[in-house]
Amino acid sequence: MKTLPNRYHGALVLLHWLLALLICVALLMGTFALKTTPNSAPEKIDGLRGHMVAGGLILMLTLLRLFVRIKTRHPAPASTGNALLDRLAPLTHWGLYLLVLLMLGSGIAMSVMAGLPDIVFGGIGSLPSNFDTLPPRAVHGLVAKLLALAIGLHIAAALFHQFVRRDRLFARMGWGPR
Ligand code: HEM
Repeated sequence: MKTLPNRYHGALVLLHWLLALLICVALLMGTFALKTTPNSAPEKIDGLRGHMVAGGLILMLTLLRLFVRIKTRHPAPASTGNALLDRLAPLTHWGLYLLVLLMLGSGIAMSVMAGLPDIVFGGIGSLPSNFDTLPPRAVHGLVAKLLALAIGLHIAAALFHQFVRRDRLFARMGWGPR
């Protein structure tokens, strides 16, 4: 039997940090720029354009990441020293993927229902007064909060490993010989 690598594959490491950045930017942008700007404001179209481009990029990179994850070998699961917490780790990792996919699905559904591709990229038509009557808008807002919570837990767990357990967990998501 082959021994397991001590790091993730370099492509997966790159995709992890790129997606971490893009998802945090999309969350912050949605919460502090889009949500607080009325659809009647002239700058709203530019904000939506940036958010939708970031969303499209997140979609492509997430699908690529899932593919690379399935195709490459991973280090053995890191132990927290507590059986229950160890069982929680894979659940939160798959939960993060699920929440990101729900954000993408609800964002795309909302934008299609509101005709945003034509309005934002083609300059055809105008924005509705808001998106509140569209059911995917409520899903997008709720899942955004759950995703922010899951990211917070994910970061707390990584810091716990690195600085309390001192098991050099960060090196597994970095580049170097495997
Ligand atoms: C992982 C990807 C995404 C993240 C993290 C994200 C994040 C957010 C957040 C945090 C909000 C504000 C929600 C609230 O607090 O109620 C928001 C609003 C919005 N997002 Fe996204 N989003 C993503 C993908 C997308 C995609 C792919 C689209 C469309 C193609 C999209 C379109 C919108 C629209 C139209 C709004 C509503 C803005 C408003 O109410 O004025 N989002 N997004």
